[in-house]
Amino acid sequence: MTMVSVTVDGVSYSDEVEPRLLLVQYLRERLGKVGTVIGCDTSNCGACTVLLDGTSVKSCSVLAVQADGADVVTIEGLAAEDGTLHPVQAAFHEKHALQCGFCTPGMIMQTIDLLAEDPEPDEAAVRLGLEGNLCRCTGYQNIVRAVQDAAQRLRATAAADTPKTVAAKADTAGGVR
Ligand code: FES
Ligand code: FES
Repeated sequence: MTMVSVTVDGVSYSDEVEPRLLLVQYLRERLGKVGTVIGCDTSNCGACTVLLDGTSVKSCSVLAVQADGADVVTIEGLAAEDGTLHPVQAAFHEKHALQCGFCTPGMIMQTIDLLAEDPEPDEAAVRLGLEGNLCRCTGYQNIVRAVQDAAQRLRATAAADTPKTVAAKADTAGGVR
């Protein structure tokens, strides 16, 4: 057995695990994070995608011990405490980007990584960014729309935050009043 210390959705955990335990199994079976789902178990479908230190990974292709010391975010860590959806979740909901919903946790986590890299992706970039995530229901059209809508929401949030940040910095520096 090997000791693993990891932060998942803002909570710290330390556990003894078998070295062969997959991260997805650790999340679901030890921590009860069943929002992260297993579609194929062979790194093909992307349903199990989570963020590992900010980068999307297929958690069925990562060992739990490889996450030692890391910060993991799952679909369950996105909404605010009052239940307000993350902008990407809200966009998927409003653009009807799901049917059975099985692929959705992975799609959303992959989208967060994609939009961090490219805040204004065109359709081709969205399709390329999500090529490792499979959906058997939607035909992808609404998923692409949702990702572009999410991008717009995140850009609007960033733009709204910027003046406050600048003002706060200026204030701290004793500058502009
Ligand atoms: S369950 Fe991990 S990629 Fe399909
Ligand atoms: S909504 Fe069913 S697999 Fe994507």
